[in-house]
Amino acid sequence: MTISINVLPGVGAEILGVDIGGDLELSEFETIKQTFSHHGLVFFRDQKISEMGHADFAEQFGTIDINRFFAAHPDYPQIALVTKEADQVVNIGGGWHTDHSYDREPALGSILVARELPPSGGDTWFASMYKAYENLSNGMKATLEDLSAVHSAKHIFGPQAGYEAEKSLSGRIRNSSAALELDDPIHPVVIRHPLSGRKALYVNAAFTLRFDGWTDEDSAPLLGHLYEQAVAEENITRFKWEDGSVAFWDNRATWHFAQNDYQGHRRIMHRITIAGCSLQAAKD
Ligand code: SIN
Repeated sequence: MTISINVLPGVGAEILGVDIGGDLELSEFETIKQTFSHHGLVFFRDQKISEMGHADFAEQFGTIDINRFFAAHPDYPQIALVTKEADQVVNIGGGWHTDHSYDREPALGSILVARELPPSGGDTWFASMYKAYENLSNGMKATLEDLSAVHSAKHIFGPQAGYEAEKSLSGRIRNSSAALELDDPIHPVVIRHPLSGRKALYVNAAFTLRFDGWTDEDSAPLLGHLYEQAVAEENITRFKWEDGSVAFWDNRATWHFAQNDYQGHRRIMHRITIAGCSLQAAKD
C-alpha cells in the first residue's frame, strides 16, 4: 500500500492507502501528522479498526481526554459513545460547534469511528476556522485580534440545560453537575494555532457566551455575523460516512455539525478525544 493524500475543496484531506488499525510505519505516521496539522481535518476510508486499535492510534497524537459528559463504552472507558437509537429523536452534536472550548486547555481534537450507520443520512459537516479567519476583511481581523471571549458548558451540559430536560438523551449525556465545576474560561478570539502556527477564528455558536468585557446583547450581533461567515460554502466539507470511515478533526482549526436526518434508524459512533493545551492569541 502506498499512502496518498486527496485534499478536499472545503476543508480537510482524505488519507488513502494506510491501515490505521495496525502498526504504522514512521513515514506513514509523519504523513498523517503533517496532513492533520496543515488541514486540521483528515479522513480515512475502509478501515478495520478495533476499539483497542482506536485507542492505540489516538495515543500516538497525545493523551486521551475522557469526556465528562458523554456515556463511555462499557469495556473501553477512553471511548465516548456518540449514539442515537431508532426511537430517539435528538442527536448529539446537532449544531455547529467545536468540542471542549469550555475547558481552560481545550482538547486538541477527536477521532470518530463509524460503528453502525443508518441506511442514508447522518453525514457530518465540517468547517475550516482558518478560512473563516482568512476570509474576513482586514478591519475585522484587526478588531478581533484584540478580543477574547468567554466559553461555558453550563447552558449545554449543566443541570438546567436542554440536554438534561430532553428525556431521549438521558443516559447518553450525563454528569451535569460537572458543568458547574468548570470556570468558564476566556480564550482569544483569534488564536495562533499550536500545531500549524496559522491564525484561526476561535469562537463557536454552542459554547461561546460573549466577548470578554462585553454584555451578551452587545456580543450577539457580531458573533452571529462571524458564525454566518464561517460556514460559507467554500469553507465546508460534508462528510458522508461509510462502513470503515474514520474522521480525525482538530478542535482548534475546525467546527463540526452532526446531521440528524435519519429518524427511525440507529447510528453508533465511537469517539476518542485527545488532550490539548492553553491557546495563545494570534497577535502575541
Ligand atoms: C460530535 O459532535 O462529536 C458528533 C459528531 C457526529 O456524530 O458526527
